[in-house]
Amino acid sequence: MTIWKATACAHPNIAFIKYWGNTDDQLRLPVSGSISMNLDGLLTRTTVEFRDDQASDTALLGGKQLDAGAALDRITRHLDYARQLAGTTMRASVNSDSNFPTGAGIASSASAFAALSLAAAAALKLQLSEPQLSAYARLGSGSASRSVPGGFVEWYPAQTHEASFAETFAPVDYWELTDIVAIVSKAHKSTGSTEGHSIAATSPLQSARVATAPERLARCKQAILNRDFETFADVVELDSNVMHSVMMTGNPSLFYWQSTTLALMEAVRDLRRQGIAVCYTIDAGPNIHCICAPGAASKVAEYVAQFPGVLEFKQAGAGRAAYLEQ
Ligand code: PMV
Repeated sequence: MTIWKATACAHPNIAFIKYWGNTDDQLRLPVSGSISMNLDGLLTRTTVEFRDDQASDTALLGGKQLDAGAALDRITRHLDYARQLAGTTMRASVNSDSNFPTGAGIASSASAFAALSLAAAAALKLQLSEPQLSAYARLGSGSASRSVPGGFVEWYPAQTHEASFAETFAPVDYWELTDIVAIVSKAHKSTGSTEGHSIAATSPLQSARVATAPERLARCKQAILNRDFETFADVVELDSNVMHSVMMTGNPSLFYWQSTTLALMEAVRDLRRQGIAVCYTIDAGPNIHCICAPGAASKVAEYVAQFPGVLEFKQAGAGRAAYLEQ
């Protein structure tokens, strides 16, 4: 019996300049570039075992066996790409665990597909460069491309599979930002981001978002490089608001915010007016990412912990690249 096996770990990431909408839904080529930071306290660990005694792929996610269906098909399609490169038809068992709630706006698909890609490539002994691995992860979930490199990362929009990958532009210890993730719901979101990307273009605001995204990206990148929190906070909140405006005005419209989401957004702006260096950003879910400048995290954590409607919070600094467990 032949078994090829590897285990990889990857952090999810939080986008400061968001990805919403594709020019190619199959290849997940984004309409605009995005910027993110990996989140070090949060982790997905995935083992992939290719075996010649197995008739189909299986996946154990968080200890639960996935039934046949769309989620398992997505994993199989993702593994097919690596199998094709390696010239094998061996099926695989996948075993994956995350230490944070999945499917609720903490980019669990990002760490999941980054870890899956790295583990599959290593198990099959593919020699992929970091850009090639990032582009491969992108096929499973766009934001997964950003969980492959470490630290502060930019993902390039491009017309081809090979050219649309993410790359580090500032190392993990460049700026000590902290993300306090306020969890207000652990429920799986009703409309996933794959579907969300495909309806983004139905919003009359999407063309304006796309036209102005490069300027926001440049401003955000420069603010990070300058460690300029004031400029950073303005552009990060603006970009999140612009994306949610597109979500709300598409057909069908997507409202991810709950009342606690809105209340905490307002409270974060208040804290900033009081001189605490924090800003918010929100993905495709109701949870709020409170991004804190160095020195602000403990005050913000204390504040978030007692905020009505917040179930719990997670705290993370900038995280390293996806890595193999030896
Ligand atoms: O990678 P996806 O398809 O789960 O899309 C992620 C979309 C957002 O989280 C809302 C924004 C982003 O850039 O991460």
